[in-house]
Amino acid sequence: AIQGMFEGPLSGRHVLVTSGPTHEPIDPVRYIANRSSGAQGTAIAAALRDLGARVTFVTGPASVPPPQGVDVVRVETAAQMLVAVEAALPADAAVMAAAVADWRVENAGASKMKKVAGALPVLSFAENPDILATVSKGAARPALVVGFAAETDDVLAHARAKRLRKGCDWIVANDVSPATGIMGGSENAVTLITGSGEETWERAPKEEVARRLALRIAEALGAAVT
Ligand code: CTP
Ligand code: CA
Repeated sequence: AIQGMFEGPLSGRHVLVTSGPTHEPIDPVRYIANRSSGAQGTAIAAALRDLGARVTFVTGPASVPPPQGVDVVRVETAAQMLVAVEAALPADAAVMAAAVADWRVENAGASKMKKVAGALPVLSFAENPDILATVSKGAARPALVVGFAAETDDVLAHARAKRLRKGCDWIVANDVSPATGIMGGSENAVTLITGSGEETWERAPKEEVARRLALRIAEALGAAVT
């Protein structure tokens, strides 16, 4: 066979990856966000690409650039991310690494809020759609759906419950307590929770965690992984 950049165990497969934070506007100049850098999702998209997959990379406003050689769809809000994800299906697998904002500002305005002496703004919130649960329970469900669970405290208990609640096949659990330095850092320490067991991977660069996950995905999709 011709050796090209698209040759690999995931050649001919389409994988959807979400990544980065979402920004939920308050007004034209202000937004609600979270601390996700997009580094882990970006590394996963690159690793899947390196195994030959066609990758659709739906990303919020991340602080790292998207990988080369993937189809990049840039979004800002959770609502936009859901639309982009549904437009990207069908896919053989989906990896939802985005840190989607749980709430949006329901009373966001088209005009800039002005500071008024002695008066404080009141924001009211609405719940955002759960993209992972929607895809996991939807008609165009990929054969393999992988979620993330960034937790503090009882990390594994939270992650196991989350996997069942969302209806995804696998969940990648990590401890994002400030003391770990993982949020915004270059390394990750995760436990992969599947329907048939759990494996904890030693702390490693996010690129290495991504490579391991991509190989497991290739294996699960029935590709010959050597
Ligand atoms: N997720 C999503 N859409 C949302 C919220 C989360 O697709 N509106 C996905 C994330 O991309 C991740 C997984 O769901 O893969 C878990 O996200 P997380 O924020 O940990 O879960 P929540 O159900 O929002 O629970 P929590 O109260 O812990 O934030
Ligand atoms: Ca959440």
